Amino acid sequence: MSTLKTTVLGIEFENPFLLASAPPTASVESIDKAFEMGWGGAVLKTITPDNLEMIEASPRYATIKEKGKVICFQNIELLSHETVKYWIDGIKYLKKKHPSKVIIASIMAPVEREQWQNLVKALNNTPIDAYELNFSCPHGMPERNIGMAIGTSAEISILITSWVKSVATKPVFVKLTPNVTNITWIANAVARAGADGLAAINTIQSFMGINLDTLDPVLNIDGNSTYGGLSGEAVRPIGFKCVAQLRQNSDLPILGMGGISNWEDAAQYIALGADAVQICTEVMINGYGIINGLKSGLLNYLESKGLNDISELKNIAIPKITSHEKLNKKSHLYPSIDEGKCIKCGKCVKICSESEYHALDLDNECINLNKKNCKGCSLCSHICPKEAIKMIC
Ligand SMILES: Cc1cc2nc3c(=O)[nH]c(=O)nc-3n(C[C@H](O)[C@H](O)[C@H](O)COP(=O)(O)O)c2cc1C
Repeated sequence: MSTLKTTVLGIEFENPFLLASAPPTASVESIDKAFEMGWGGAVLKTITPDNLEMIEASPRYATIKEKGKVICFQNIELLSHETVKYWIDGIKYLKKKHPSKVIIASIMAPVEREQWQNLVKALNNTPIDAYELNFSCPHGMPERNIGMAIGTSAEISILITSWVKSVATKPVFVKLTPNVTNITWIANAVARAGADGLAAINTIQSFMGINLDTLDPVLNIDGNSTYGGLSGEAVRPIGFKCVAQLRQNSDLPILGMGGISNWEDAAQYIALGADAVQICTEVMINGYGIINGLKSGLLNYLESKGLNDISELKNIAIPKITSHEKLNKKSHLYPSIDEGKCIKCGKCVKICSESEYHALDLDNECINLNKKNCKGCSLCSHICPKEAIKMIC
């Protein structure tokens, strides 16, 4: 029998699914409900010192949809609006009611030793399991020299991590931004400063576009806009890359996130090095109830693979990610067309000829392959609307 139970830094998780720091964890009532429904834990909406003003803009979301389905958010929401006292009382209440659930306090403060340490000292007296330092919010905060302004500077990241570590009585995760040239540089810096674990990714700085009728920004706040954070399915490949790079570079525990919408995405994060995962946008779109499918899907998968727990899945894909130079350039695949499925639309021929290769042509209602010209690139198989093309040896 496989199990979803796992232990990270001595913290016991009944399952590896956590709500990420975001609107689904903005109130004690919501987290209470999510715990009742089966979530393994929650990272609280980022807590700040009470004197840090949070004034929100309206609206604060824009989306891209594909066939009516939201595939990403751009948001410009700020941090928790609740006081530190609210969270201290809330954590105590939640932990008493749900002792088996993991509660992680996400925190952020101005770059002053006292402000960070006072926040940590106040929360040390609660039954939280760990801290998550938010060095990665990409909107609003960086213009106040915090959020992503911290996580894009190794020096400031080191400074704050060591301030926090010198007073924290619980393990400290650092939540990293993907808005850097190489995420491992900041990860190495905070590891040197004593971070116990890493969390990635926060949202990706973005701009949703311009409405060409009105010439106003798509995310229109009284005629103006600002850069926001992209999240949801569309960012998943960037999250995968960041988590894999972190794992290739470090043995620290990783809380992986970015675009998880089902158990398959979560399983891939784990195979790429995550110890547990966090989810935000999918929960906002489809509700806390998605936890049932996440848990049963991952458990069935572990059982089908004969794996006892997620530690046996963790890192499994990492040895398969190498440099371009080390890829086997002698391996060459060719398209094989299933004539039964092919509708002779010619899309494969067009993409092949207009993307340089000229290996396919449509002749007498038949797609012909000129093997000599075929570079085995696979574009034709991706463009085919009927999935009639497979790449084979
Ligand atoms: C509306 C919104 C608010 C967020 N607020 C926070 C926050 O307060 N602190 C934080 O660390 N991350 C925050 N995030 C980022 C998420 O925790 C998460 O890192 C990101 O959305 C990627 O995961 P996802 O694709 O599952 O949403 C927020 C994301 C969204 C969409």
